[in-house]
Amino acid sequence: MSGEMTPTFSRGRVENVLVGVLVAGGLIVLFTMYLRDPKLQFCAPRPVSQHVKKPILLVWFWPEDQKFDLNDCRTHYNMDACILTDDKNLFYDAEAVLIYNKAINSDLSNLPSNYRPPFQRWIWFSTEPPSKTTILPGIQHLFNLTMTFRKDADISVHPRVFAKKQPQEFVLPTKEELVCWISDEKVTGAAEDYFTELKKHLNITVLGQAFAKPLFYLSFESETTKDYITEKLNAPLVAGTLPVVLGPPRKNYEDFVPGDSFIHVNDFPSAKELAEFLLKLDADGDAYQRYFLWRRYLSARPRPAEVNKHFLPDICLACEHVGRKRVFRRVPDLNKWFLEQNTKVF
Ligand SMILES: *[C@@H]1O[C@H](CO)[C@@H](O)[C@H](O)[C@H]1NC(C)=O
Ligand SMILES: *[C@@H]1O[C@H](CO)[C@@H](O)[C@H](O)[C@H]1NC(C)=O
Repeated sequence: MSGEMTPTFSRGRVENVLVGVLVAGGLIVLFTMYLRDPKLQFCAPRPVSQHVKKPILLVWFWPEDQKFDLNDCRTHYNMDACILTDDKNLFYDAEAVLIYNKAINSDLSNLPSNYRPPFQRWIWFSTEPPSKTTILPGIQHLFNLTMTFRKDADISVHPRVFAKKQPQEFVLPTKEELVCWISDEKVTGAAEDYFTELKKHLNITVLGQAFAKPLFYLSFESETTKDYITEKLNAPLVAGTLPVVLGPPRKNYEDFVPGDSFIHVNDFPSAKELAEFLLKLDADGDAYQRYFLWRRYLSARPRPAEVNKHFLPDICLACEHVGRKRVFRRVPDLNKWFLEQNTKVF
């Protein structure tokens, strides 16, 4: 009897154990699914990158036909906020379209003519000062973002200095010349007049390109427009020389770079006094060195030397902007903003 009872009793126990194991197993499987499947995670925060696609920035015209590799923003600056493309077939998917002002045909025939998706933002890109800029009739209300040298542009492209990760002593390069002037374009107006005057008091080496490393470097802008501070300032900062600037007033320069990183011609009553000051600095190494103290903490960044990458830093900046800020915006009147609100300051 007991021989019959035991198996029956045992069978019942085995069944109980099996059911228990199955239920527990089922719970574990469900719990694992819950953890793994994002659709089931109603409460857990989701990693953003999995769900937000990177916006596409379509380069409609390569500025001055200077085409660089579409991966260059990542390889040069580790910038990766958008998908950069020049494939016009991606127009409908593009979050932003970059349009280089100078390349627009006078009849606007080479602008996108397709239906414009409501989320799409057009960026007006111009590097020229107002005196050399044509804003064609019909385009003043087309754009959502501006990209120019102006500080109040949505994407402002101008020389800038960057904080060093760690303070680092700056070693002055060996100087070969006293004052250099890079005359890569015909200079007229205030810049030319001042140069002619300064030449009477100083030996100035005129060069075709920025190869030499003089003590001083004449960074004379061709325009005195507010914010129009160009590579003429950046190149000498990168080279480790002291720029002598002529352009907008000192205060405007100080919006972009440290006040002790340059000498402004307006700091002196005349070219003669400036020349005397430069000669004094040439003789006084300590005083000269004081113009380089900021370089312990900040540095200027060179533009890529390759001609085809001339616009790379600007376009990468646009890419960052498009990737980070997705707000509705429209430029009310380009003409008014760029051509009329520009104040001559000299
Ligand atoms: C310029 O250099 C020449 C030759 O080195 C020298 O004779 C002349 O005095 C210098 N002029 C000025 C203004 O320093
Ligand atoms: C972009 O600007 C155009 C023209 O002003 C406007 O119609 C459109 O709504 C703007 N779109 C966005 C996303 O800002």
